[in-house]
Amino acid sequence: MTHTPPAPRRGWVSRWTFILAATGSAVGLGNIWKFPYITGENGGGAFVLVYLACILLVGIPVMMAEILLGRAGRRNPIDSMRTLAASSGAHPLWRLIGISGVLAGLMILSFYSVIAGWALDYIPRTASGSLAGANAAAVAEAFAGLQADGHSQLVWHTAFIAMTVIIIAFGVSRGIGGTARTLMPVLFALLLLLLGYSLAYGDFEHAVRFLFAADFSRLSAGAVLVALGHAFFTLSLGMGAIMAYGAYMPPQASIAGTALIIAVLDTAVALVAGLAIFPLVFAHQLAPAAGPGLMFVTLPIAFADMTGGLYIGTAFFLLLSIAALTSAISLLEPGVAWLSERGRLGRLPASLLLGGIAWLGGIACIHSGTVFNILDFTATNLLLPAGGLLIALFAGWCLRPSLLQAELGDLSPGLSRIWRLLVRVIAPLGVGLVLLSSTGALNGLRIWLTGAVT
Ligand code: PHE
Repeated sequence: MTHTPPAPRRGWVSRWTFILAATGSAVGLGNIWKFPYITGENGGGAFVLVYLACILLVGIPVMMAEILLGRAGRRNPIDSMRTLAASSGAHPLWRLIGISGVLAGLMILSFYSVIAGWALDYIPRTASGSLAGANAAAVAEAFAGLQADGHSQLVWHTAFIAMTVIIIAFGVSRGIGGTARTLMPVLFALLLLLLGYSLAYGDFEHAVRFLFAADFSRLSAGAVLVALGHAFFTLSLGMGAIMAYGAYMPPQASIAGTALIIAVLDTAVALVAGLAIFPLVFAHQLAPAAGPGLMFVTLPIAFADMTGGLYIGTAFFLLLSIAALTSAISLLEPGVAWLSERGRLGRLPASLLLGGIAWLGGIACIHSGTVFNILDFTATNLLLPAGGLLIALFAGWCLRPSLLQAELGDLSPGLSRIWRLLVRVIAPLGVGLVLLSSTGALNGLRIWLTGAVT
């Protein structure tokens, strides 16, 4: 029996479902935990300015490229890249973008779901009042206890992967779209609730100073690279998540306008998260600690000590879990779409298979910090920037002009020229720098150069 490839599937119910799903992918642990702390570490307002420039000059143009490749290909990232390369007369190896994306998604999901599992664990822990009134040492001990408890971590990690698999198995419109339409409004409401509480009871002024006072002396070259790398991670770029979602986008929706809305929402959530978290940290005379400690030790100390901390704390960990879940489904979708569109596996077995691989990866992360760090570093610092670089180059230099015209036809000639310059030259240069620095090559070059000068 010969196999005929499935016809391109039904799309999102509306453009807004696409926007909510892509925003759900973008808004995740990166916004709520990582952005506030790297901002504080890297010069506050000065860093925010550089980060905004990275979003504008690299993030938005590359996101437009990803959406347009997805919508032009109308398939999963691997097959979209294959057919687009063929119809543009480019080398078939461009489909490596899709393959590396599927791998990166599985790697990120492995460690991401372990952290999400901690967030899930903290919902009943906080809601039951087991941390209420606890002192700093007791809260720190509780987190250390969880990290040493392989069994609890396994249970929560499994629960998180199971939720991700179930949503993905329900398909694009009901599963991903339905989840985004239901959970994103809850996420926004929880975030505003926390912001309101911090405005009323936190040290808001101190937090604003911490986040926005521009101290350019603390802004190093390294900070610029951190900002660019984070722009990629936070917008979910470089691994085909946005490309996979773009394949279901209505044909008449404007790609530029849509990318702009997603980037603005993602950035707004990051800034508001900072303004919700730090006032509580400062009001309780705590230090804005880096790493997982900020979410799982510093904040719980503040929650343990404040009026209504039980509710605010529970709301916070619910927010964190929702943000992680709507990102996790986008990490699995490229691979599941690929396997199921090949017609060999249905969506449920494909989700179970790939979810199972990420589940095993997560178990390795629970038991070994080294595996955790290797997966994080390889996916976040190497595969995402490399994928983004290739996506920008392919869309800018290789894609058949008529396809480009069909997708970006609504852009004015001036904006179209700016976009082309950004994806052809500016974004590849910026991303190239990130890649060189992550591999340590840039450091080597600097040492070599300073050595050569002195
Ligand atoms: N954007 C997500 C976050 O900020 C992480 C992510 C990266 C999700 C890549 C999907 C793809 O947490």
